[in-house]
Amino acid sequence: MKKQVRKAVFPVGGLGTRFLPATKALPKEMLPVVDKPLIQYAVEEAAASGIEEFIFVTGRGKHAIEDHFDVPYELNQTLSERGKKNIIDALGNWMPRPGQIAYTRQMEPLGLGHAVWCARNYVGNEPFAVLLADDLVMSQEPCLKQMIDVFEEAQGNVVAVMDVARDHTDRYGILEVKHDDGGKLVQVSGLVEKPKPEDAPSTLSVIGRYILQSEVFDHLDGQQVGAGGEIQLTDALAAMVGSQPFCGLRFEGTRFDCGDKIGFFEANIAFAISRDDIGEAVRKVLTDYV
Ligand code: G1P
Repeated sequence: MKKQVRKAVFPVGGLGTRFLPATKALPKEMLPVVDKPLIQYAVEEAAASGIEEFIFVTGRGKHAIEDHFDVPYELNQTLSERGKKNIIDALGNWMPRPGQIAYTRQMEPLGLGHAVWCARNYVGNEPFAVLLADDLVMSQEPCLKQMIDVFEEAQGNVVAVMDVARDHTDRYGILEVKHDDGGKLVQVSGLVEKPKPEDAPSTLSVIGRYILQSEVFDHLDGQQVGAGGEIQLTDALAAMVGSQPFCGLRFEGTRFDCGDKIGFFEANIAFAISRDDIGEAVRKVLTDYV
């Protein structure tokens, strides 16, 4: 029987040092693009893709994320006393139902692979998605939904990929490709974490969207340290190539690297100008500046 993707893991334990001092007391996942925190975009993408269970791997100082996905009782009370029910309605496009969201802590910052491994008991023995909130995707159809459609046919593992400049390969997990006719789907024969441009097997980079088989936890159990002295998810994925179907999806949409100041700024512009309420005014401001 074909398996379904019901659960998603959100690793949100990272320190966000690239955005200091903003992230001194604020989780980087709570940085807003226009007026919505990055993590809410990721969670709404997952919900719109059919995900039913949301597993957050958090760390110290991340309470604001838990509070964000909770009923803001005092705020609701004050707003309703002031007759501003419309603002309450606009507060949460998506809210978890009780029990639909779970939090566990990555107690040491040992890498993305380790963060995902921390979710193993919540995921159990079924395929699951991983979404990195730093990677924000603007698309007609949610990026994860596009991947789930591929997964329903291919099963196995699916990663969302995009072509990057060769001198940027050392920022991403890079695919080694078995078959690529330039179309939507790429057959993966290997993965390397952040290779130097001269060593990169391709320029196809993994963005922070994965659909994975639970066998990945067997590989992560080894806690093997890889690039940058961290336990890398990419290394565990590479170990599964050959024993399970593995494909890359050139998704439709635009991805913004919000872990980077310029990418984050660009996302703010792109999302602001696409909005019905402020788009025109923002365009005018930008035109005046440049
Ligand atoms: C992580 C992964 C990398 C992937 C990237 C996507 O890197 O390790 O393979 O390409 O996310 O954003 P990080 O951005 O945490 O350094």
